[in-house]
Amino acid sequence: MSRVEQLRSRLRLPVIVAPMFLVSGPELVIASCAAGLVGSFPAANARTIDVLDDWMRRITRAVGDAPWALNLVVHPTYNPLFPEQMDLLDDHRPPIVITSLGQPGDVVQRVHAYGGLVFHDVTTLRHAEKAIEAGVDGLILVTAGAGGHCGDLHPFVFVPQIRQHWDGAVLLAGAIGDGAAILASEALGADFAYMGTRFAATQESSAADEYKQLLLGQGAADIVVTDRISGVQAAFMRGSLTRVGLDPDNLPPLRGPRRPDLPDHVKPWRDAWSAGQVVGLIDDIPTVAGLVDRLEHEYQHARDALCRDAGTPQR
Ligand SMILES: Cc1cc2nc3c(=O)[nH]c(=O)nc-3n(C[C@H](O)[C@H](O)[C@H](O)COP(=O)(O)O)c2cc1C
Repeated sequence: MSRVEQLRSRLRLPVIVAPMFLVSGPELVIASCAAGLVGSFPAANARTIDVLDDWMRRITRAVGDAPWALNLVVHPTYNPLFPEQMDLLDDHRPPIVITSLGQPGDVVQRVHAYGGLVFHDVTTLRHAEKAIEAGVDGLILVTAGAGGHCGDLHPFVFVPQIRQHWDGAVLLAGAIGDGAAILASEALGADFAYMGTRFAATQESSAADEYKQLLLGQGAADIVVTDRISGVQAAFMRGSLTRVGLDPDNLPPLRGPRRPDLPDHVKPWRDAWSAGQVVGLIDDIPTVAGLVDRLEHEYQHARDALCRDAGTPQR
C-alpha cells in the first residue's frame, strides 16, 4: 500500500480540513482528528514560537498517532519566523506539513528525514511542476471558488491535467461543501478533498461570532476576489468589507506590487473576512462531529445513488 493509500485508510472520509489564518487553532485540529479527518492549522496563527510549541504539544497529546498537519508559509517575505518554525518540526514531527507561497525544497528535506509527508499549495501548472521538482508528496490544487488565496482554474481541467503526469497525492481545494462534492473530487482523480470555508462555520473554529454569522448570511455572489486587500488575489465576503467602511466595488488601488492601500483600521483577514463560494451552501454552525456525520451521510447517499443508477438498464 502506498503512503497516500495508508493515509486514506486511516480516515473516515478522504478529507483534509484546510488551514485558515486566524480561524484554525488547536480546538479545530483536535476536533477534526477526533471525527476521523486530518486537521490542520497555519503556524502563523500562533503569535509566538512559544505558543506554537505549546499548540503542537497539545495537539500531539490529544490526537495520539492520528494524522494532523502544520501549515508553513515558506516565503521569507511573508513569514519572518520561518527558521524558528522549521526548528520545531524536529521536536514535534507533524505527520503532514502543508507548504504555501514559495519553494518547499528545504521543508521537504527536513520532513522526509523524520518520515513525514509534504503537501504544497498550487494554483497553476507551472507552480505544480516546480513543487514536483522540489520533491513534495502531494499537490493541493487550489481552484476557482476557493476561500483564501483562490485560483482561477476549473477543477474539471486542473485535476486531469495534473493527473496526466503525476501519480503522487492530489488534494482538491475550492468550493467543496458537502458529501457529494467530496465524492466528485474522487471521481475527478483527487485522493482527498481539502475543505476550508465549510469548517470555518463550526463551533470549534476560532472565527469571531460575527464572522460566523456572516458565513450564514452571505451567498456565493457576495464573494469578492481581489488583490487589493492582501496584495495577492484572495476571496473576501462583501459584507465584511462594507462592515469596515470599504466599498467592495471601488476598493483602493494597490500602491505598488503587492502593496494594498487600506485605511489604518482595516487589517486583511482580521477585519476583511475570507470565504469561498461555498458560503452559498452554509446555513448552520454545527460541531465538527455533527458536520462530519452529515458529510459522511451525504457521501454515502451520493455513492449509493450512483451505484443504483449504474445498475439501471439504459434506455
Ligand atoms: C479564512 C481563510 C483563511 C485561510 N488561510 C490560509 C492560510 O493561512 N494558509 C493556507 O495555506 N491557506 C489558507 N486558506 C485557504 C485554505 O487552506 C483552502 O485552500 C481553502 O479554504 C479551500 O477552499 P474552500 O474555502 O472553498 O473550502 C484560507 C482560507 C480561508 C477561508
